[in-house]
Amino acid sequence: MENRHLPFVAAFILYFCLLEPFCASAGKDDFVYSGFAGAGEANLNLDGAATVTPEGFLQLTDNTANIQGHAFYPTPFQFKKQLNGTVQSFSVAFMFGIISPYNDASTDGMAFVVAPNKGFPGAASAQFLGLLNSSSDNSTSNRMFAVEIDTAQNVELNDADGYHIGIDINSLRSEKSHHVGFYDDEHGGVLKNLTLMSSNCKRFQVWVDYNGESTQINVTLAPIKVQVKPKRPLISVTFNLSTVLTDQAYIGFSAATGPLAASRYYVLGWSFAMNAPAPPIEIARLPRLPCPRDNSLQKILKITLPIVAAALIFVVVMLLVRRQMRYAELREDWEVEFGPHRFSYKDLFNATEGFKSKHILGVGGFGKVYKGVLQTSKMEVAVKKVSHNSNQGMKEFISEVVSIGHLRHRNLVQLLGYCRRKGELLLVYDYMPNGSLDKYLYGEENKPVLYWAQRMRIIKDVASGLFYLHEKWEKVVIHRDIKASNVLLDSEMNARLGDFGLARLYDHGTNPQTTHLVGTMGFIAPELAQTGKASPLTDVFAFGTFLLEVTCGRWPISNSAHHGRKMLVDWVLQHWHRGSLPQTVDPKLHGIYNVDEAFLVLKLGLMCSHPIANERPFMRQVMQYLDGDAPLPEFTPATLSSSLLAMMQNEGLDPYVAQYPWSANSVGTMTPDILSGR
Ligand SMILES: Nc1ncnc2c1ncn2[C@@H]1O[C@H](COP(=O)(O)OP(=O)(O)O)[C@@H](O)[C@H]1O
Ligand SMILES: *[C@@H]1O[C@H](CO)[C@@H](O)[C@H](O)[C@H]1NC(C)=O
Ligand SMILES: *[C@@H]1O[C@H](CO)[C@@H](O)[C@H](O)[C@H]1NC(C)=O
Ligand SMILES: *[C@@H]1O[C@H](CO)[C@@H](O)[C@H](O)[C@H]1NC(C)=O
Ligand SMILES: *[C@@H]1O[C@H](CO)[C@@H](O)[C@H](O)[C@H]1NC(C)=O
Ligand SMILES: *[C@@H]1O[C@H](CO)[C@@H](O)[C@H](O)[C@H]1NC(C)=O
Ligand SMILES: *[C@@H]1O[C@H](CO)[C@@H](O)[C@H](O)[C@H]1NC(C)=O
Repeated sequence: MENRHLPFVAAFILYFCLLEPFCASAGKDDFVYSGFAGAGEANLNLDGAATVTPEGFLQLTDNTANIQGHAFYPTPFQFKKQLNGTVQSFSVAFMFGIISPYNDASTDGMAFVVAPNKGFPGAASAQFLGLLNSSSDNSTSNRMFAVEIDTAQNVELNDADGYHIGIDINSLRSEKSHHVGFYDDEHGGVLKNLTLMSSNCKRFQVWVDYNGESTQINVTLAPIKVQVKPKRPLISVTFNLSTVLTDQAYIGFSAATGPLAASRYYVLGWSFAMNAPAPPIEIARLPRLPCPRDNSLQKILKITLPIVAAALIFVVVMLLVRRQMRYAELREDWEVEFGPHRFSYKDLFNATEGFKSKHILGVGGFGKVYKGVLQTSKMEVAVKKVSHNSNQGMKEFISEVVSIGHLRHRNLVQLLGYCRRKGELLLVYDYMPNGSLDKYLYGEENKPVLYWAQRMRIIKDVASGLFYLHEKWEKVVIHRDIKASNVLLDSEMNARLGDFGLARLYDHGTNPQTTHLVGTMGFIAPELAQTGKASPLTDVFAFGTFLLEVTCGRWPISNSAHHGRKMLVDWVLQHWHRGSLPQTVDPKLHGIYNVDEAFLVLKLGLMCSHPIANERPFMRQVMQYLDGDAPLPEFTPATLSSSLLAMMQNEGLDPYVAQYPWSANSVGTMTPDILSGR
């Protein structure tokens, strides 16, 4: 009887086997992949970025941003024995690994999934892991159970942190999740945190167990070297999957990348069983992750890197300290307002190639002057290094320097700014390519002799610059050191006054008792020598000497063997007195000059250098005389001497008493000549 039925049973089974799904689930309730080598389309259904690599990885994503990949076991499983019955117990195990371009970031994650279909059309990548999208999330019609391994924190999905594993039902908002870790049975079952992304390409194992009777879901995680499943699962929830899963369902994996730090998600081995523990995967047969870095090299680096780094830090610190000392500056709070005028020492150091002596333009009374090229603007500058030890009065001086920096005139050398160091002040000026006037007057450095017309223009330029300082700007600026070496020639041979205001540096911070006169011998007005008080008229005095210097081509004071020290003013005055004024004009002109102009300048020079301040013209008048807009007042050597005599009597001065070098040499030698009536 039973034998008679056998063909029918066989036919019945055959019939069901032709209906593929039933055959698969009915005929085979478990599988194991110890690596996927050889498992192509026939054994797995892949879509998106998912591929099986020749080494045997199931690679779900490559490191392209915003992609997804899926892999499914080709046939569904009969999760419920009867139609609309309860879901049976099942068990899954798989190994996975993640390779991220970064050590501490990876997007977005992967999941094991049980779903009614083999694909998820319309699913989103990134935080939706290629499973759902924002509108389908949490819909009961999804009928989906998943275990997510999430490597990015998505606050909108209530993710607790960036590296968690979670149990998902119809939604990516996990029923329960936990930071990746495992209860380590080898160490008394303590919870150990795991790092999913690491430079040595770790592999991990996950077990998912469902008990159909108790409806308990356990998820356990462990590093691959922990060969035995830990006793205590990482997460456990009770959820009746009978209300979720369809009678038949497919199992597989999904992974998705986000916009940044796109990672490759790998499944290395996989096993499944219905109503039984998942069959063990042969770990020895699993492929190693294509780790971008070599382990042995890494070990060497681990040891040597800190040493190299420490050495490097030491060198850098030493360099910084040296640099700090080399470029050290003084900078105080009050300087903030002068910020734009403040140069860094480093910039000036670089501009002058470390103040190389080949860049020295000249050495003046205050210090050396260097030529420099500012590196950022390629601008040519002259840097004057003034040694100065007193900090007292520095604020006032700097504010004066800066205010002078606001002066702009075609006959003034533009002051660009300053820098301060200990014991040193640096002033930055426009560079004047043609150097200072004295070099031309005295034929130094092979400079050509200047024609009369050129000299006349220079005289007018300097007069106009000084006039501007005295009368045109908002406050009166006294130059204090007018002389040929402070007259600089720009690229068009325009004369420009340099060094203005700098004399004040010596006024500040020095003891009034020992006040040393500012200015240059021969250019110092008598009242300045007596009182030490500078005024526009003391500048006019010096300007007078300058006029004589330019016209005569002679130093203001000469040392001759048989006459001793002689003042240029006296010498010109004597010649005028004797009617031999033309003999004073610079012989280097070879008599080629405008006689009227030259005499005008000589007489104006004497007038400006008048020992009595009130007899001197103001710069406004000087300009008019030079331009021919007003005639020079009539005066002769005799008027000069009578006013001088009057002054000395007024002051009760004995003409022969020499109080100062100037009076000893100028008044002292001039007056006897004049008084003798010669
Ligand atoms: N802005 C400048 N451009 C070019 N050369 C300059 C500049 N300033 C000064 N020098 C040169 O440096 C020399 C010394 O300058 P300075 O210290 O002003 O002289 P002094 O103290 O005798 O007035 C000048 O004679 C001139 O040759
Ligand atoms: C199974 O459930 C579905 C809806 O949940 C229902 O339409 C169907 O009739 C049920 N089938 C059986 C055999 O109970
Ligand atoms: C969301 O997914 C469902 C199916 O899963 C699809 O029908 C729907 O178009 C998707 N929505 C969007 C906005 O992509
Ligand atoms: C998901 O859906 C369930 C019922 O379908 C509801 O109780 C729950 O609040 C939803 N969760 C969210 C976050 O929308
Ligand atoms: C594991 O990591 C999480 C998140 O970084 C942290 O809150 C927790 O304290 C860690 N636990 C252990 C045992 O280190
Ligand atoms: C889940 O883990 C607990 C604790 O180890 C265990 O008692 C229970 O049987 C497990 N359930 C399943 C479905 O594996
Ligand atoms: C699970 O749900 C099914 C169908 O809704 C029900 O028949 C079964 O009793 C439930 N199991 C438990 C343990 O509640």
